[in-house]
Amino acid sequence: MQNNSYNALVVEETSPNSFTREIKSKNISDLPAGDLLIRVHYSSLNYKDALSASGNRGVTRHYPHVPGIDGAGVVEESTSTEFKPGDKVVITGFDLGMNTSGGYGQYIRIPAEWAIHCPDNLTLRESMTYGTAGFTAAQSVNKLINHPVLPEQGKILISGATGGVGSIAVSIMAKLGYSITAVSGKPEAKEFLTNIGATEIISRQQAADSSGKLLLKEKWAGVIDTVGGEILVAAIKSTAYGGVITCCGNVASPELPLSVYPFILRGVSLLGIDSAKCPIHIRQKIWQKLAGEWKIENLDSLVTECKLPELSGIIEKMLHGQQTGRVIVNLL
Ligand SMILES: NC(=O)c1ccc[n+]([C@@H]2O[C@H](COP(=O)([O-])OP(=O)(O)OC[C@H]3O[C@@H](n4cnc5c(N)ncnc54)[C@H](OP(=O)(O)O)[C@@H]3O)[C@@H](O)[C@H]2O)c1
Repeated sequence: MQNNSYNALVVEETSPNSFTREIKSKNISDLPAGDLLIRVHYSSLNYKDALSASGNRGVTRHYPHVPGIDGAGVVEESTSTEFKPGDKVVITGFDLGMNTSGGYGQYIRIPAEWAIHCPDNLTLRESMTYGTAGFTAAQSVNKLINHPVLPEQGKILISGATGGVGSIAVSIMAKLGYSITAVSGKPEAKEFLTNIGATEIISRQQAADSSGKLLLKEKWAGVIDTVGGEILVAAIKSTAYGGVITCCGNVASPELPLSVYPFILRGVSLLGIDSAKCPIHIRQKIWQKLAGEWKIENLDSLVTECKLPELSGIIEKMLHGQQTGRVIVNLL
């Protein structure tokens, strides 16, 4: 390699609990040991990245740090028999961007087990339009349809609907023929949500409940929740007999004040979703679905592309719940 330096967004703790984000030149030799050296072409922005980039020690323990839990690029060096130089690969989750230098750098070095080959029917750019958010949305969809919850059983509630996970979940479920009620705090996003397939849009206030009742009228055949807290509680209390609720996020709250009645009187199931440590055989199946029968036709309409210098401002927007759709970072 002729030039060993590359650019990265570096988060530094300048004084206790005070963090800055700056683009810096780094050296490939500073990357951790690993089987694959990858030239990152695209990364993406997820809520977890926004937390890591703002000093959240629940996500990243040590700073300075390069965030970016997603990366898609081309293998430059490999000690693995599974990958060779020139292979296109996609990495989402594991420790990338948490305590391992992440996708907001033009290079990453990682264990081979973290990578999958980029599916044939996806470009690297498209893979990052999905990213962890899309992968998580697809895992949630998978849980619902395997239960099974069928389109004819009724409406599906999806919260945080304009967010990364929410917008991809709405798009996939609509493509599969389900009737979607989207929960959104953004009245201005009505057109966006309708275009991606929501049939009904309700506000966060309408989705929450302050009655204190232990069970509410049965409304949803299934729920994909991305926010937690009051909206998730009301969704569980309103899920119809035998229905399924998936739970992946906590942007609203990590709390879940609830009784056992939805479970023991209506037989509903609350299913947890984790994308970071999802086993490789499930990972590969889900990515094949995202590239194949679940591929969103208007994937490009969900995405805003930025370069490293613009990323910091968009991170602030996300932390304030103001981002709509997906953000990808072009590192070419
Ligand atoms: N378990 C996993 O493996 C996994 C993987 C990926 C993401 N996640 C989690 O899933 C959640 C969503 O991630 P994301 O990347 O989609 O984030 P995102 O793009 O920021 O989307 C979150 C959306 O939630 C809504 N929201 C924001 N603040 C809210 C509040 N206080 N109350 C209710 N709704 C609020 C907003 O949508 P509206 O304005 O439309 O309401 C926002 O766009 C995060 O908690 C993230 O950590 C978990």
